Amino acid sequence: MLQDQYQRVHDYLRISLTDSCNFRCNYCMPDEDIQSMPNAHLMQADEIEIIAKKFVDLGVKKIRLTGGEPLVRKEFPQIIQTLSKLPVELTISSNGVLIDKHLNALKAAGIKKVNISLDTLNRESFRKLTNRDQFEKVWENINLLLENKFRVKINVVALNGIIEKEILDFVALTKDLPLHVRFIEFMPFAGNLWNKDKVLTAAKMLEMVKKEFKVSKLKDEPNDTAKAYQAEAHLGTFAFITTMSEHFCGTCNRMRITADGKMKNCLFGKDEMDILGALREGKDIEPLIRLSVRNKHAALGGQFTQDYTKAEADKIENRSMIKIGG
Ligand code: GTP
Ligand code: 5AD
Ligand code: SF4
Repeated sequence: MLQDQYQRVHDYLRISLTDSCNFRCNYCMPDEDIQSMPNAHLMQADEIEIIAKKFVDLGVKKIRLTGGEPLVRKEFPQIIQTLSKLPVELTISSNGVLIDKHLNALKAAGIKKVNISLDTLNRESFRKLTNRDQFEKVWENINLLLENKFRVKINVVALNGIIEKEILDFVALTKDLPLHVRFIEFMPFAGNLWNKDKVLTAAKMLEMVKKEFKVSKLKDEPNDTAKAYQAEAHLGTFAFITTMSEHFCGTCNRMRITADGKMKNCLFGKDEMDILGALREGKDIEPLIRLSVRNKHAALGGQFTQDYTKAEADKIENRSMIKIGG
């Protein structure tokens, strides 16, 4: 079991397969030119298997594959096939554009749940936001997942001044489709030009939704990142990921491995443990994993406090989102 000094049990591992992405969302990519890591720096398929197995031996029950965009990793089908043999719930977070190409691989690996990032329902806004004209493809793929009985969550980054006009449309989507839409308060990462005025809080969003829909609060699971609601007579649900206005670090069970094999004990942590380096030197990685978990801060990587309006984004030491994996 992996327990930190605050008695939090860590049983959810997020593995980034690549720091490359086929989209160019401006809030995710830093300003400077993106250089993807050379393949030799990435965990190779067999290394991912060894590392994942070790975490499972230490009590991990859920593994999520992230990126960049995990589906652009050449060996993706092979990697999920291997990981599917482990006794864990296996899931992915994807931008959705390559889902049709990998549908059979996802099914063969027994994946039941997929989270898709989609920040707008408008084709032109999508093009501007992602720098790719792929709205239709993503939308088709979301429907393909539903037809194939996957449980689909949609992650919407809630940028103040941009998302307001779409919130009700996203909630309206949940009327006839069994989709689970989650609005994520905008978080600060290296190079993403965060400032407090770009955060639209969950409280404000809920107020907007309540003006149009009769909503009820749903029960959340102990380690959920989101607070869930449902509009009356809707098939799907909506929720808020309130990192900025009301963090959920007290029940955190999450650890991360970056594509280059560094363990991060927190999304906002600046400390990294070189798991891949140790593995390649033939060392035992278990003590390093335990040490990383033990050193985890109580909240928000110890880098800012709950009063997000005081966060100084340029003082937060961290990677950019694309290099962490979300
Ligand atoms: P489920 O397993 O379906 O609940 O998904 P998830 O929320 O764990 O993963 P997903 O990749 O869909 O992440 C959605 C958003 O939640 C992203 O913006 C993540 O960065 C954010 N998120 C995920 N894990 C954490 C976390 O440990 N801390 C914080 N603050 N945010 C997180
Ligand atoms: N704040 C909140 N969410 C973000 N994501 C990427 N950057 C940010 C940010 N700064 C989201 C992506 C994806 C998930 C893994 O993280 O849109 O849905
Ligand atoms: Fe866990 Fe860090 Fe996220 Fe808080 S900010 S929920 S401690 S990963």
